[in-house]
Amino acid sequence: MKAASFFAGLALVASSHGLNVLITNDDGFGTANIRAMYYAMTALGHNCYIVASSSDQSGQGSRLIFASNAKLTSDSEFGIIKSGAPSIGQDPKDDHIWYYNGSPATQVLVALDYVLPNHANFSVPDLVMTGPNYGLNVGPFLYSISGTLGATQTAIERGIPAIAFAGSYGTHTAYYDIQSSTSAGLQDPATIMGRLAATLAQAFIDKASKSNATSGGRVLPLGYGVSVNIPLISSFKDDSCVNPPFVRARMTGDGAFTSKAVYDNATGLFGSANYADDGTNMCINGDCNLPGEIEVINSGCKSSVVLFTIDYDAPYGASSLADPYAALLPDIVQLNNATNLVGGLGANASVQGATGSSTGTSTGGTTSASAKSGAGRVMLGNVSSLVALAMGVAAVATLL
Ligand SMILES: *[C@@H]1O[C@H](CO)[C@@H](O)[C@H](O)[C@H]1NC(C)=O
Ligand SMILES: *[C@@H]1O[C@H](CO)[C@@H](O)[C@H](O)[C@H]1NC(C)=O
Ligand SMILES: *[C@@H]1O[C@H](CO)[C@@H](O)[C@H](O)[C@H]1NC(C)=O
Ligand SMILES: *[C@@H]1O[C@H](CO)[C@@H](O)[C@H](O)[C@H]1NC(C)=O
Ligand SMILES: *[C@@H]1O[C@H](CO)[C@@H](O)[C@H](O)[C@H]1NC(C)=O
Repeated sequence: MKAASFFAGLALVASSHGLNVLITNDDGFGTANIRAMYYAMTALGHNCYIVASSSDQSGQGSRLIFASNAKLTSDSEFGIIKSGAPSIGQDPKDDHIWYYNGSPATQVLVALDYVLPNHANFSVPDLVMTGPNYGLNVGPFLYSISGTLGATQTAIERGIPAIAFAGSYGTHTAYYDIQSSTSAGLQDPATIMGRLAATLAQAFIDKASKSNATSGGRVLPLGYGVSVNIPLISSFKDDSCVNPPFVRARMTGDGAFTSKAVYDNATGLFGSANYADDGTNMCINGDCNLPGEIEVINSGCKSSVVLFTIDYDAPYGASSLADPYAALLPDIVQLNNATNLVGGLGANASVQGATGSSTGTSTGGTTSASAKSGAGRVMLGNVSSLVALAMGVAAVATLL
């Protein structure tokens, strides 16, 4: 079947029941990849909105960085929006495309809690799609660093099925530079990646709607997400990799790596390098027979598809300990319903402060020590507000 008629067929299926879809990324609202995915999902009959950062926000993971200024203090990426414009707004050419000057995770929150309820004809999307990222997001290391995956995790935490996409092609391109035909006479890699993402999303949608009784109409169950990595699409040069199959993979597995710090004594600065070890390749959850994402990507023209959950708790199961809680947790970590909970200081529970001998001449040694421990208690009672304050300070510092 020709690609065009295959595509038209999908559009017919979907147009009878288009979903409401939120699309975001970490590379910014003006990049070719996110626009191509939006065009492809819209062509399938879905009601799509982009809410994405006004500039590149790669590597932010799930960090919440809200704009610290109500106006943009510099032009958005590719100069699409000028400095001085509001820090949130619509693309001048498409009112379903929004930019916001914040990290990827905040795009999801601002979309769910502001843009969609106020400016769309729905409030809660049926599906969130992120990316396709410029550069692969392979392995557990990038699961926690990638802004694309951070936005995905944020959506799943808000109860919305989400699929993250990343591609090997790494050069940020403006949406208006998407070529209708490359010098090899093929579609632009961004167009092909957008179509790959839409095709896979539609397949999930179709599968879920067929099993409506068990799926309850959800594209994925609560707490589940998908991470997809697409190999280098070769269409700028040739057709050697323009239609990669999707294959099942797992996040950990052969080749998964993390980072190590590399000191450069010429500059006195650190950089990072890939570092592979058993910690990142451990199989604790899921199907240990599946190949790792990197193994799939390295094995030729194939895309890896990983199903994950955001329940990070220790699992029971055959591939793990029968009861990890009993096997790994010491007795001092007790059951909440135990009748006599033992304090965390254990048997040596005295918190008696210094009696004054160590502070020498102070007449009020005991008093001042207890005042100090009193202050300590106030701080402990205020840990959450202190954390919130620290996060706020960190967020502002990042934007400066
Ligand atoms: C929402 O808008 C989209 C297009 O903008 C339309 O296709 C859809 O039917 C609308 N949904 C509702 C519930 O009005
Ligand atoms: C699918 O399930 C949802 C929720 O239970 C329901 O509202 C919807 O009508 C169902 N759709 C079909 C085609 O059965
Ligand atoms: C106490 O909590 C544990 C773990 O949640 C549970 O398995 C156990 O049944 C509870 N015991 C009682 C008496 O409720
Ligand atoms: C008990 O706590 C006190 C005060 O912190 C400390 O000096 C002492 O060494 C502790 N004893 C033991 C057995 O840990
Ligand atoms: C937390 O700190 C605030 C002031 O920052 C204070 O008003 C409040 O009483 C404190 N709460 C606790 C539980 O100490």
